[in-house]
Amino acid sequence: NKIAKVLSLSTAVLFSAGLTVMAEAKTFKVAVGDAGGSPQHELGKKFAEAFKEKTGGKHKAKLFLNGQLGSEQDTVNDAAIGSLDFSILAINNITPFSPTVGVFTLPYVIQSLDEAVELTQGEVGQELVENTVRDAGVRIIGWTYSGFRVLSNSKKPIKSVEDLQGVVVRVPKNEIMIDTYKSWGVNPTPMAWSETFTALQQRVVDAQDNPYMTIHSMKFYEVQDYITNLRYIFSIEPLIVSEAVFQDQKPAIQKAILEAGKEATQHSAQFLRDSEAAIKKDLAAKGMQIHDPVNGEKEFIDRATQAVWPKFYDSIGGKDKLNRVLRLLGRSEV
Ligand code: MLT
Repeated sequence: NKIAKVLSLSTAVLFSAGLTVMAEAKTFKVAVGDAGGSPQHELGKKFAEAFKEKTGGKHKAKLFLNGQLGSEQDTVNDAAIGSLDFSILAINNITPFSPTVGVFTLPYVIQSLDEAVELTQGEVGQELVENTVRDAGVRIIGWTYSGFRVLSNSKKPIKSVEDLQGVVVRVPKNEIMIDTYKSWGVNPTPMAWSETFTALQQRVVDAQDNPYMTIHSMKFYEVQDYITNLRYIFSIEPLIVSEAVFQDQKPAIQKAILEAGKEATQHSAQFLRDSEAAIKKDLAAKGMQIHDPVNGEKEFIDRATQAVWPKFYDSIGGKDKLNRVLRLLGRSEV
């Protein structure tokens, strides 16, 4: 009788220990706005690989590509309430929830990959991480670097502000980008990313802007013929984790999440350096005509910086904040 009791007790202990182990092993969901082969996907793959390795293979991160888990802006809400674990999305789709990240969306502030790396990985980036936790309930744990958002369209070569008149341009639901196009004399059409390909295909809109890498991975060359090399926004696409989910994890898992995010970030910068030129060449080989804006983009730059920057000083946290960024980048203050 005693032996039976000991046996059943030890079975119970073993069983519950087994359950604990099973309950602890987890597959986290990662929403990805873009398609396979995109910089977002590349960052996500690296994150998943590093996270698995850092947890000894116990925990996994599973990617859901092509906006399968909702539009990029919806994934911020879902992560904020803890119904989604992670999301990789363009920074412009976080700005509506945490306006200070707008400093990275202001036209013509970030002018190269090196500047994007310096800002995101330095103190300005760290501050934005904290603000985004506070304002949006999500924590940025990695940064995808995707390149300049160039303008694609199905109508004609566009080289000047004048050429742009009358073209129907889709933009993300982002006030800074809407106002930038307005400064160029165009009233753009705000639309979720997940609806953009179909809208271009059905000619509801003529044009949109996104990096070469995104245009390529999303196969926009099937429905767009021309590209203008605008450099108004360098696209940065953070990997966010739900703050509620993050705070629920043991310190070792939190550490693995943060470290895997850092590794993926380093990888993303290298991926862009290694791939963008070939991708651009391939888009040309697929028939896209690529044009530079006239006069070194001067009219686009002057109009956007003069009209848009002052309008958003308050929302980004004051004019001083922009000046700090400009100083860090070695540019003249405003
Ligand atoms: C957008 O245009 O909404 C985003 O930049 C798309 C993306 O995440 O690639």
